[in-house]
Amino acid sequence: MQKKWWKESVVYQIYPRSFKDTNEDGVGDLKGIIENLDYVKFLGANVIWLCPIYKSPNDDNGYDISDYRDIMNEFGSMDDFNELLKEAHKRDLKILMDLVVNHTSDEHRWFVESRKSKNNEYRDYYIWKDSKNGKEPNNWGGSFAGSAWEYDKNTDMYYLHCFSKKQPDLNWENPKVRKEVEDIVMFWLDKGIDGFRMDVINMISKDQTFPDGVKAEGSLYGDKDSVIMNGPRVHEYISELNAKVLSKYDIMTVGETPLVTPKIAMKYVGEDRKELNMVFEFEHMDIDRDESSFIKKPFDLVKLKNIFTKWQKGLENGGWNSLYWNNHDQPRVVSRFGDDGSYWDKSAKMLGTCLHMQQGTPYIYQGEEIGMTNVSFEDIKDYRDIGAINHYKEEVEIKGKNKDDFMNYLHELSRDNARTPMQWSGSENAGFTKPGVEPWIKINPRYKEINVENQINDPNSIFNYYRKLIKIRKENEIVVYGRYDLILEDDKEIYAYTRTLDDKKLLVICNFTKNEPMFCMPEDIKYASFKTVIGNYNMDDGEIKNIKLKPYECKVYILQ
Ligand code: NOJ
Repeated sequence: MQKKWWKESVVYQIYPRSFKDTNEDGVGDLKGIIENLDYVKFLGANVIWLCPIYKSPNDDNGYDISDYRDIMNEFGSMDDFNELLKEAHKRDLKILMDLVVNHTSDEHRWFVESRKSKNNEYRDYYIWKDSKNGKEPNNWGGSFAGSAWEYDKNTDMYYLHCFSKKQPDLNWENPKVRKEVEDIVMFWLDKGIDGFRMDVINMISKDQTFPDGVKAEGSLYGDKDSVIMNGPRVHEYISELNAKVLSKYDIMTVGETPLVTPKIAMKYVGEDRKELNMVFEFEHMDIDRDESSFIKKPFDLVKLKNIFTKWQKGLENGGWNSLYWNNHDQPRVVSRFGDDGSYWDKSAKMLGTCLHMQQGTPYIYQGEEIGMTNVSFEDIKDYRDIGAINHYKEEVEIKGKNKDDFMNYLHELSRDNARTPMQWSGSENAGFTKPGVEPWIKINPRYKEINVENQINDPNSIFNYYRKLIKIRKENEIVVYGRYDLILEDDKEIYAYTRTLDDKKLLVICNFTKNEPMFCMPEDIKYASFKTVIGNYNMDDGEIKNIKLKPYECKVYILQ
């Protein structure tokens, strides 16, 4: 297996809007990130992924870019960015930027031009279509409710927007668009950044016949995603970008790719493919929800184990996994797959262990390292996510879905669960912004109990447990490169696996329940001695062949 710095890295994801506000406008900013670089360094991560910081009208919190070469007013200036990059590099922290090039903002200069007339030189930068039988060009629904097409009366045509109507999709069939993207990527790489996370990068190539999507029962629109993802020319486009730009720099790339299996993913990340280093898959994030009918499904550990195992084995020869529980689009994992009540501390540590001991590059989303939890806003007015707001209108107000059911769905799965401000302290506004200032989104009421100040000096905190996990990875090659194998496959309560490198084995045991199940060592695991690596309870075991696990207990051993 090829050794690479990005395989040995741990990434810390920052959602700048909610990280730290220094200029008292209730919105986080670049200076707030600079102030806290030492915090990230102390945690032990060595790469920071910044969610979009470019100029944007913020219809989708920066995922709608109006100028790729400028900084969002609320976040600061290019000088601030230059300082951030310099200060990060001084500390050996690398910076990954978010590259959002499936779409732009409708306020981007290209789109402003494009919509002016059918023969404008920017017309073909976007996807314009005539109406079909007096209606939209096809039945696709947008990801944030409504149709994926918007009628523009100026030229009597529709444009495609897979997300909000303020996020028109770029037309990658046009070589000029591809050249613009290359120039943008080069602009940032020449500044010295260390790589990109590429937003929905497997959506950029659309089937030019624009076929209807399958319409699920009760749905107003057809499913565009199964048609759009991994389109006909996607590999050609990514290879081209790699050959012309990415390959010229020593960087890290990770593509966000909904609807991929390990087999499809290998086409993006296979070492011989020269496309990307990693992708973010969604299979393990989709096990407890039905996104088309807004239903939360029960958590099923056996399913989760199968999915992770499929990915670990599927990418072990010539690919590489990204490991994540959380990001700005997902609810908080301790509330989702753990227990944010009595076993908050234990389950947060167990979940961290289960993920960080796998093969791949771990991503920690701000606040995960202190066990931040979901939030239940009672009023839809407190939600800020355009997806939550638009779907509420469509489901509750138009289709008549029960309001409480929909609110419960948001409480469990809304993206805003991840977006409440970082909890730095127990003082008013959680130390995110000055007391008296109104944050752009409400603070999670649990900030008094769950915050950095409480945890940073407590050796038994979740924060210090995450520090240990990172340190163990840095000091043990087996955690980075060891081969993964699932054991006790059918156990409904315990997730256990081994990692093997040369004559050593790492044994990872995680109890995903409040119960006290027995772990019984499989016969074929042979060892002469064992050494404790980490655990979330006392670890003075006499023998480890049969262990009665405590609620949400995890244990890691080196066997030799
Ligand atoms: C995926 C991003 O993570 C999400 O936050 C955003 O809304 C969509 N892509 C559209 O850019």
